[in-house]
Amino acid sequence: MQKLNDGFLINLEGGEGCGKTTHVPYLVEYLREKGFTVYPTREPGGTSIGEQIRDVIHDLKNVDIHPRTETLLYQAARSQIVEQVIRPKLLEGQIIICDRFYDSTIAYQGFGHQQDIKAVHRLVDYATGGLTPDLTILLDVDVEVGQRRKESSDEWNRMDAMDKEFHERVRKGYLKMAEVDARWIVINANNGIQEVRRDLLEGVNKRLELFLNLVEGVKKSAER
Ligand code: TMP
Repeated sequence: MQKLNDGFLINLEGGEGCGKTTHVPYLVEYLREKGFTVYPTREPGGTSIGEQIRDVIHDLKNVDIHPRTETLLYQAARSQIVEQVIRPKLLEGQIIICDRFYDSTIAYQGFGHQQDIKAVHRLVDYATGGLTPDLTILLDVDVEVGQRRKESSDEWNRMDAMDKEFHERVRKGYLKMAEVDARWIVINANNGIQEVRRDLLEGVNKRLELFLNLVEGVKKSAER
């Protein structure tokens, strides 16, 4: 079994219908076959408390949730999963694959709802206790393509129901974040499943290899 000293945290991000639900299980299986211990989870949710909060946020009945309330509810679910699941499993050396993490808050609540980005960053930082992913994968999809995919699935929640302009702002927000931060890989998710899968595995392999070489290098220089 391959063991990583401080674990490795990957989050998959993207707008509605970008294909995360299709690709996460495949990536998990792929990394397990390579010998890693992999723990998949999702946000909001991934803990009993988080799943209850998810139901409140996504309930189509809750049309009167204020964007700030919505932002805080996502952070409440997040602090729970970080402390109950993610941090302990990283300490065990596991790879965590998160179907969304705090970048979703920056994209949806920050850019989508046009809230004060600095304030949103502060909240996110508080909720995660400063934990940052090692690799973030953006499955970038055109809003119309994503919405068509979503409409033909049986999942439809309060966030999906936001207007097209909201989702365009979310997409632009994601691209803007990815442009300025090397932890991101952007994949064209308008492509078919096989192409996306190929790009995804290629990206993950490269980054993981770099990370493992870095850890090995640090270990060797500490032994000297
Ligand atoms: P999904 O599990 O189908 O991706 O749905 C989660 C929804 O929640 C999606 O519309 C994005 C939204 N979301 C936010 O708006 N902010 C967040 O911080 C997170 C984690 C999700």
